[in-house]
Amino acid sequence: MHFEKLPVNERAAQINRDVERVVNRAVRTYDAVMGKLGLGGRRAAYDDEAYEFVGGAKDNLRKKHYDKSLRLLWKAEHAAPWTTFKDAGEAEKALMNVAERGMSEAEKSARAKISSKEFKAALDREYTPAQKKALVTILSKIGHGEAYAWLVSASMLNEVKSTGARAAVTMQVMEEAKHFVVLRELIQAFDVEIPRQAAWDYLLLEGCLRAKGFNRFFGMNVLVETIALSIFGLLSDKPGLEVLRLFHLDESRHTALPDNYFREFPMTEWQKRNPAARMSRLMMSLPAVPLVLYLEPELAELGVDVFEFAGSVLRKAVHLAERSGFLMPLPGSELLPVFNAIFNAYCSATRPNHVFRNYMAADTTHGAAEAAIEREIFGSAAAA
Ligand SMILES: [Fe+2]
Ligand SMILES: [Fe+2]
Repeated sequence: MHFEKLPVNERAAQINRDVERVVNRAVRTYDAVMGKLGLGGRRAAYDDEAYEFVGGAKDNLRKKHYDKSLRLLWKAEHAAPWTTFKDAGEAEKALMNVAERGMSEAEKSARAKISSKEFKAALDREYTPAQKKALVTILSKIGHGEAYAWLVSASMLNEVKSTGARAAVTMQVMEEAKHFVVLRELIQAFDVEIPRQAAWDYLLLEGCLRAKGFNRFFGMNVLVETIALSIFGLLSDKPGLEVLRLFHLDESRHTALPDNYFREFPMTEWQKRNPAARMSRLMMSLPAVPLVLYLEPELAELGVDVFEFAGSVLRKAVHLAERSGFLMPLPGSELLPVFNAIFNAYCSATRPNHVFRNYMAADTTHGAAEAAIEREIFGSAAAA
């Protein structure tokens, strides 16, 4: 390459370099001292000399979360063509056209882009008004939850160390943003009044956002995402709700994030075991129980026993929490029977001819693909 090199005043350039060196030393020393004294210091957890964020590259986390998220990235324009989203690129549209050319007439009409009006009419054909109301109540719990997932994941960006973990969390932030806006249009399409948060999900989600440090990982990625995953697993095979499969896939990656992160940056034994942290995790979790019970009439409308749903959620959440090192005041093997006894006592009081049963063994996830994904995350705690 040929460039016409310009003349430079060597002396002026040298002075500029020298001034920078002095200022650099002063700035860095000042920030290092203030940092050591706990009085501030460098704001960014960034190491420009290593060209990495503090914590190093951690490419493993990047590959498991950032790369995988982009591989599995879905666009609302394709997955829910009746929405207002225009998020597919030219190359994706061209690919879709090629794929459609190879489809049978039946396949083509199943994939046909339907308008929002047609989608709403299809919902009216498939569901009674009571069923629509029940679906909206259940989905709105997740809808409000996605708003908090967006907020909490964004707050975790400044909590995690390493370039790989930041890339991973950044993808979660983007996916939660997508979940919030897409789910909002799906819920609005039912044309049913959308309920506010109940006291229980208000307390649960505020608790997650207010939690300190990695307890936010516990509250959001372990507890709330397991509830979300269970609701998506329950509903994604229902007519008009097929897009929830893609949410289910994304949330499964989010539930795996704390465990993958702690493999690179393990929690200390004190962080895992200290009694105050254990108790605060239990306190954070408690609103989840009345929240699920609150949904009993809506789940019943869809033919689902609330205690089977709750048992399935609790078993999976306890498994994930213990695997990530988020210990509770009691081990799962003792905690689950306590909740099972409470559930059975409630049923004895409210249901005629109730017979004691183990709700912790239930599973309410439908769909072979969803069950397979859950087996990968929950191992033995997933449905057989
Ligand atoms: Fe989400
Ligand atoms: Fe999520």
